[in-house]
Amino acid sequence: GISEIIAEGCEAVSDPFEALRAETMACTKCPLHSTRKNVVFGVGNTQAELMFVGEGPGADEDEKGEPFVGRAGQLLTKMIEAMGLSREKVYIANIVKCRPPENRNPFENESMTCIPFLYRQIEYIKPKIIICLGSVAAQNLLRTNVGITKLRGQFVDLNGIKVMPTYHPAYLLRNPNMKKPCWEDLQIVMKEMGLK
Ligand code: URA
Repeated sequence: GISEIIAEGCEAVSDPFEALRAETMACTKCPLHSTRKNVVFGVGNTQAELMFVGEGPGADEDEKGEPFVGRAGQLLTKMIEAMGLSREKVYIANIVKCRPPENRNPFENESMTCIPFLYRQIEYIKPKIIICLGSVAAQNLLRTNVGITKLRGQFVDLNGIKVMPTYHPAYLLRNPNMKKPCWEDLQIVMKEMGLK
């Protein structure tokens, strides 16, 4: 009935996460907004214990408005499922919400402009653990210049959240030898979550 429709509409405006989504979807703060097809806000369980953070949307993600839906995304889904979880149980987001042209790395001004949206997602979700996928995600989230090879394999504290940097699935597709160390990183996370 009409009262349910009104109640639903009110929930959308009063829920701070939905307000954050709406603000992100309308963002024009950096130049990436002018070449995007869709803003890729994030997807999954807003009460998740585990969050994944990637770099930014590629062509497939820009097309669909959802993170990690291309070939790298299919591998990420397999990684999540190998941990005994599903995409619905975790939350998935990126450092930048709009696709950088030609899939280049985001520029400093772009990631610095966009990362407050990610911090607000993290603040709302309050995950116990964040898995950071690749150098760009890890270096931006952790504010470091240390490379992923050095960072991976151990938790880094981010305001009480345990951050595990590991390889990006797109890198794993090009370097299948690195799947083994990545799986070791995921197993450390599983142990911490009581999944192992
Ligand atoms: N690579 C990323 O870093 N993020 C996506 O959403 C897709 C591919």
